[in-house]
Parts: sequence; C-alpha cells; structure tokens
Amino acid sequence: MGSNSFSSFIPVTLCTLPILQWLLLSLNNLTIDTSTPEANIFSCLANLRNLSMLNLAGNPLNTALPASLGNLSTSLQYIDFRRCNFKGDIPKEIGNLSSLISLQLGFNQLSGSLPTTLGRVRNLQGMYLSDNKLVSYIPDELCQLYNLADMEMPHNLFSGSIPSCLGDLATSLNLMSNLLTSTVSSFLWQLKYILDLDLSSNSLVGSLSEDIGNLKVVAHIDLSNNHFSGSIPSSIGGLQDLFSLSLANNNLEGHSPSSFGNSLSLELLDLSNNSLSGVIPKSLEALSYLQYLNFSFNKLLGEIPTGGYFKNFSSESFVSNGALCGATRLLVPTCKTKAASRYFVKYITIGSLSAILLVVLVSMILCRKRIVEAATDQTTLSPQKLLWRKVSRLELLSATNGFSECNLLGTGAFGSVYKGTMSDGIDVAIKVFNLEVEGVSKSSDNECEMLSNIRYINLLKIITCCSQTDFKAVVGYNDRCCIGIGIPSSPIIHCDLKPSNILIDDDMVAHIADFGIAKLLGGGNSTTHTITLATIGYMAPGGYTVACLFIKLRDKRNSFEKRGCVYSFGIVLMETFTKRKPTDEMFGREVSMKQWVADSLFPGGMVEVVDANLFGTEEDDDFASKECLSSLMRLALVCCAESPEKRISMQDALAMLNKIKTKFLKNAAGGAV
Ligand SMILES: *[C@@H]1O[C@H](CO)[C@@H](O)[C@H](O)[C@H]1NC(C)=O
Ligand SMILES: *[C@@H]1O[C@H](CO)[C@@H](O)[C@H](O)[C@H]1NC(C)=O
Ligand SMILES: *[C@@H]1O[C@H](CO)[C@@H](O)[C@H](O)[C@H]1NC(C)=O
Ligand SMILES: *[C@@H]1O[C@H](CO)[C@@H](O)[C@H](O)[C@H]1NC(C)=O
Ligand SMILES: *[C@@H]1O[C@H](CO)[C@@H](O)[C@H](O)[C@H]1NC(C)=O
Ligand SMILES: *[C@@H]1O[C@H](CO)[C@@H](O)[C@H](O)[C@H]1NC(C)=O
Ligand SMILES: *[C@@H]1O[C@H](CO)[C@@H](O)[C@H](O)[C@H]1NC(C)=O
Repeated sequence: MGSNSFSSFIPVTLCTLPILQWLLLSLNNLTIDTSTPEANIFSCLANLRNLSMLNLAGNPLNTALPASLGNLSTSLQYIDFRRCNFKGDIPKEIGNLSSLISLQLGFNQLSGSLPTTLGRVRNLQGMYLSDNKLVSYIPDELCQLYNLADMEMPHNLFSGSIPSCLGDLATSLNLMSNLLTSTVSSFLWQLKYILDLDLSSNSLVGSLSEDIGNLKVVAHIDLSNNHFSGSIPSSIGGLQDLFSLSLANNNLEGHSPSSFGNSLSLELLDLSNNSLSGVIPKSLEALSYLQYLNFSFNKLLGEIPTGGYFKNFSSESFVSNGALCGATRLLVPTCKTKAASRYFVKYITIGSLSAILLVVLVSMILCRKRIVEAATDQTTLSPQKLLWRKVSRLELLSATNGFSECNLLGTGAFGSVYKGTMSDGIDVAIKVFNLEVEGVSKSSDNECEMLSNIRYINLLKIITCCSQTDFKAVVGYNDRCCIGIGIPSSPIIHCDLKPSNILIDDDMVAHIADFGIAKLLGGGNSTTHTITLATIGYMAPGGYTVACLFIKLRDKRNSFEKRGCVYSFGIVLMETFTKRKPTDEMFGREVSMKQWVADSLFPGGMVEVVDANLFGTEEDDDFASKECLSSLMRLALVCCAESPEKRISMQDALAMLNKIKTKFLKNAAGGAV
C-alpha cells in the first residue's frame, strides 16, 4: 500500500493477518498510536510469524524504535525504516532478528551507539544507517557479520578508528562525514572485492599504503578531507576499473605517480589542496574518459600537458601552484620552448599509440561479437534455503543426465552451462569450465571464491563449486529478481542488461542472470576483463566499464552507472517488442535503432516497427495493443536519451511501465477480452 496518501494511525488490525509475509506501507502519511500499548502497531507485529519484509519508509512516525522489535518474526529479512523520524537508540533486541538481510535505518534521528548485539545478525548483507546521530566507536562485534557486503553509515558522529576486521566487505564501505581519527589499519587494503570506498571528511591520519593496489575492482575511492600524509602510492595506476579518485584536501606530498596514466577508466581525478610537487604526468593524456581534473593548490611545476582531454580543462584545474606553465588560457606563463621538433616526435608517437589502441579495441569488439553468450536458465524457484555444501562430479553427472545435450543451455567462451536437478529436487544451472582455454582454471577458482562470498540478494546464488584438477564446475540458482515491480531492495544493478541475461520463469517473473560476472572481478587479467564488458549495442554512449556491473543504485547522485543502466533497459524494451537487435544490419551508421523507433511514433506507425505477432485480432484489442506499444516505445526512447541528464531514472521508468500495464489491462478489459 506504498506511495499513497493514507494518513492517521497504522491500524493494529493488520496484526490479525497471521500469515502475512510483506507489509509495505512506505511513502504515506501514517503515524503510530502511542496513547496505549494496545494501540501501538509495534506491540502486535510480533503476531505476524511469517513476516519477511517490513517497509515503513517515508512515514512521519516520530517515535522511538521499540524494544519489541526483537520479538518480530525470525523470518524477517528486510527492514526499511528510512525517513521515519525515529528517535533514540537502536534497541539491543535487534540482535534477535537472525534472518535479517538488509537493515535500512537511514535519514532518521537515531542516537546513541551501535548495539553490540548487531554482531548476532549473522545473515546481514547490507547495513544502511546514513544520516543519523549515532555516536561512539564502531563495535568490533560487527566483525562477526561474515555476509556483510555493504556498510553505509555516512553523516553520523562515529569516532575512534575503523574496526580492523571488515576485510570481507564486497560492495561498499561508506563512512563519509564522521569523526573518525587515527590511522587506517592495513585491513582496509585487503578489501579486494570492494567497489566503493568513501572515508572522506573525517580526521584520518597516516600515509596511504602501496597495498591500495589490492583493491582490484574498486570503482570509487574518496579519501578527501582528511589528514593523510606521505606520497601517493604508484600502485593506484594498477586499478583498471577505478573511475573516480579524490584525495583532495589532505597533506599528501611528493610527485603524482605517472602510473595514473594506466587507470584508463578514470573519469574524475581530484588531487587539489595537497602539497604535491614535481610535474603533472604526461601519461594522463591517455585517459580518454577523464572529465574532471583538479591539481589546484599544490606545488607543481613544469608544463601542463596539452594532449587528450587537457584541451578541455580550464585554469580552474590548475590554480595556485608552484611554477606551472602552458597555454595562456590556463592563466599560467607560457613555457620556454625547447626544440619544437621534440614535441612533433612526441605527437606522432602518441598518434600511433592511439591508432594501435583503436585497432586493439576494434578487434576486441569483433571478437566479442563472435563469442556466443553463455546463456543460463533457471526454472523452478525453490523456497528452501540453499546452503553451501559439497557436491561430487558424480552428483553433477546424474543431475544433468550425464551432461546430456538436452540439458545444455548454452556455451560460452569459458565453458558450457547445463540445466540440472539435484537429488533434493532443486533446479540449478551448472557451469562447466573448458580447461583447455588458457587462464580458465584460475578464473574458475576466482569465480567460485568471489560468487560464494557475495551472497547478493538479487543475483545468481552460487550453491557450490566442484574443483578438481581436470574438472571444474560452479553450481548456482537464481533468486527472484528485480525487474519485477515492487521488489524492495535493490542493492545492485546489473548493467549488462540484455535479453539473453533476462530469464523468464513459469510465472512470467523476470530474473537476471550472468555467470560471467566474476571473470571481471577475479584476477588482474585484462583479457578476461574485456570479454565481460557490457555488451556492445546495449551500452550507453560514452561507454562504461566493468565496474558498472555491481554498482548499486544510489540516491545520492544520479550517477553514471545508473544512467547507463536505464539506457540498456530502454534498448532491451525496444528489442523485446521489435524483435530486432540493436546490432542488426539494418541499423547502420545512418539509422540507429533508436531513430527507427522514434520515426514510427506517428498514428499508425507502430505497425511498421513492432513484431506483427503482438497485434490482436479483435479491433478493440488491437487498439489497446497499439496504444500500449507506442507508450512502451516512448518510454524506451526517454530511457535512451543521448544525454545522460535527459534519461529518466530507473525508478521512474518502472513506475511508467506499471502505469502502461494498468492502462493496457483496463483498455483490453473494456474491449472484447
Ligand atoms: C498527514 O496526516 C496528518 C494527521 O495525521 C494531517 O494533519 C496532515 O494534514 C496530513 N498531511 C497530508 C499531506 O496529508
Ligand atoms: C509460516 O511459517 C511457518 C514456519 O515458521 C511455516 O511452517 C508455514 O508454512 C508458513 N506459512 C506460509 C503461508 O508461508
Ligand atoms: C517479547 O516477547 C516475550 C515473550 O512473548 C515477552 O515476554 C516480552 O515482554 C516481549 N518483549 C517486548 C519488548 O514486547
Ligand atoms: C531478544 O533479545 C533479548 C536481549 O537481547 C533477549 O533477552 C530475548 O530473550 C530475545 N527474545 C527472543 C524472542 O529471542
Ligand atoms: C585546503 O585544505 C585545508 C584543510 O586541509 C582547508 O582549511 C582549506 O580551506 C583548503 N583550501 C582550499 C582552497 O580549499
Ligand atoms: C570538450 O568539451 C566539449 C564540450 O564541453 C565536448 O563537446 C568535447 O567533446 C570535449 N572534447 C574533449 C577532447 O574533451
Ligand atoms: C579545484 O579545487 C579548488 C580548491 O578546492 C577549487 O577552488 C577549484 O574550483 C577546483 N577546480 C575545479 C575545476 O573544480
């Protein structure tokens, strides 16, 4: 009953629905009757023994979190109490909620310290406590949360040091704007699966370790506004997926490492207001996605590079330095020219390098096209809890009828995927690696290790791996997924959205799958990385890299990956209804698929683009279909707007999709159907 205008008290009569599983009341104007204990909804919610989702977000509840929270159903998996104006402490009884996966308490006025009992919520994967008034240190008990992937507690008053045990966080650690002091311990550089690390605006001290190069898949690092000192580790240049790095407003000194030029995904580099000396590395000219650069307020000297994106940076990127020189528009003195011919030679070299790069890119793309997607499938969803367990090769043999053709779902670059039924009746997908392909052996171990570490809510669940020297396989199954509307928590988005990654089950519920994910996260091998880049044709202009895959939806900013995803979603919509691929020969350079669809948006034009099988035979039915289809195509087009700012958000896209569906059902019902 979310997103309505219900007001007044949440009625206790809801507690008389004993097998209720979801109670979703977000975004209303509801309150809690605290006049008598009997009238308080929290006093009786414990009666709902099958409750798995409780969402009261965005209601002005204006009360304390009650101790009776600890009496709620042990089936409870998701709590969303954002923006409820809850006050007071987080009750220690919260430790009783042993099945809890996601705890969202952000944007309230919670105070006091974190209860140490949180360490007992062993299934917790996401802990979102941003924008409260929580104090004191972050308890070491949180180290017992082995499944925790995402810890977001920015804008609180946490002090002391960061526990030295959060080495398993796989998605993000965000402690921005707290009162943390002391050095960061070496654990931090062991977060080898972390995507987003934000410790900005604290009072952290000490130097940055070369071990920062261990954060192999990190996409954002923000350590700005602290007191870090020492030099910038050159290992940062090994971070291939890094796309924003801010070290601004610290006390860093020494040279900026020229290895930055290897972080080819960089879009944002902010090193302003430190004490950096030496020159601006010319290698930065190679960064073809760089959009924001700031070297201001340092002690830099020498020539400001002129190639690549440097043409576009203004004087604002270089203010107040030692002795920089370069173009007059940068408000610095002109450099004293040496031999003009040297620049010429350099220019040529850079020119040929880019040519080589281009050739490599083109061959990659051609290669990519040839690789048949490892299609995966998923059938019956088993409600049982699937636990990590051992399987033998023999068991897999019998599950797949001896890896028979009939069970083969698809073959990919690294192996084949089979459908199988385990002895306990659970349907699974099994990927068997082709060990003759170089690097696969290692990659499969990585894949296994990583996927079993991240038990994400909406992604493929890996049940187990079978690893022998001559045989390696991964067994997994899909959880119900996020295309469906009204799924509460979507901590990740899958940016390689395309029809072959979307599986529809018997109930017409969509699931997203991709066995390939781990390849890009495991190991530092760039060839395996390139293969899993988001698929050409579904990718937003400007491109995005690997890092995009796992990045979660963020409300904070309309971030790049989010906009990239909605683009892919738009293309998928078009493909679904036109039955044409964006890479279809008919879409050359002149007419893109988008243009083709846009051109059909005149009355009666739909027939020209949409798959004819979709039109009904009855006239009313036909009208409803056409209207629905043209709404769908309009939606697809706004998702695919060329400029990211003009694209709508994924949330709005889903809301529109819902409206179109409702309208269609109504119109069709009014007709002959
Ligand atoms: C919300 O509910 C309160 C009473 O509970 C009422 O006074 C107020 O006008 C309502 N606000 C809106 C926007 O409906
Ligand atoms: C409710 O939960 C109980 C166990 O806690 C289970 O036996 C029962 O099947 C569940 N009921 C429904 C409708 O899911
Ligand atoms: C929780 O449940 C127990 C047993 O039913 C009861 O004794 C206790 O008072 C309850 N606690 C709260 C805070 O409601
Ligand atoms: C809930 O937690 C409290 C203290 O943390 C404990 O005393 C109580 O027995 C727990 N209740 C249940 C139902 O487990
Ligand atoms: C640079 O950082 C210091 C604190 O480290 C701050 O006080 C100062 O305002 C900053 N200067 C600029 C220009 O941002
Ligand atoms: C420079 O910026 C302009 C407009 O902001 C943009 O159109 C152009 O592509 C950019 N060029 C480079 C090399 O960054
Ligand atoms: C770079 O940082 C400085 C100091 O924080 C700021 O004054 C300047 O505007 C920034 N430059 C750009 C391009 O944002």
